[in-house]
Amino acid sequence: MKTYIIGNWKMHGVRTSARALASTVLDAAGRLASQKTEVILCPPATLLSLIADLTYNTPVRCGGQDCHAEAEGAYTGEISAAMLRDAGATYVIVGHSERRAGHSESSREVNRKAEAALAAGLRPVLCVGESLAERKAGRAMDTVRRQLRESMPRQGDTKRVIVAYEPVWAIGTGQVANASDIAEMHAHIATLLKSEFGFAETEVAVLYGGSVKPANAAEILRCPGVHGVLVGSASLNAEEFVAIINAAQS
Ligand code: PGA
Repeated sequence: MKTYIIGNWKMHGVRTSARALASTVLDAAGRLASQKTEVILCPPATLLSLIADLTYNTPVRCGGQDCHAEAEGAYTGEISAAMLRDAGATYVIVGHSERRAGHSESSREVNRKAEAALAAGLRPVLCVGESLAERKAGRAMDTVRRQLRESMPRQGDTKRVIVAYEPVWAIGTGQVANASDIAEMHAHIATLLKSEFGFAETEVAVLYGGSVKPANAAEILRCPGVHGVLVGSASLNAEEFVAIINAAQS
């Protein structure tokens, strides 16, 4: 299985800064991205066409940060999976905790988005993860089980889904889950993917996300069951993001 390194730029960047960031990443990733490593940039929707043009015919791919569950319609401000595809995306993040919390997205909604993504030919990067309160109460495993059960797509080419385990308390906080907690949760997710959805071992990629930096990337990527990382703030710094891509080579 490939190692996936995904940069989630969130609501950062305008054309000038995005072009500079993507060009530096491309210089390095052009050399580093290989059969073994898939590098994906997820800029804000306004920059998707630009980044898709810059990465065209290179080993780097791009993706959206969210999509609507419907293919089209009277949904002011929304963007469909087909529109992302048309703009050059091949991936889309769905169910990020900032959307689950900030936009009250339910797992059922995330499920519909993931199915819409597959139907439009995109690979959904489906995020799950417990809050700090849930972890402290010993409910991390249950939360992730419930989220996966309710949000994994049931229709379409479901093995094209990528799952991202992102403990909410580790996102943007500088706090990273330790290697044994990561390995434990990834083993749990692998078991669920098999028992609930019938996937063979390592058929579906499972990434870790939450304060991934150059200093911890190699250790995280070495954890059993981790097939890549979803990177937020460090993906906005070309040097740091390239160092994380580099860590995947070793
Ligand atoms: P972070 O964000 O790397 O800034 O913690 C990760 C994410 O939100 O995917």
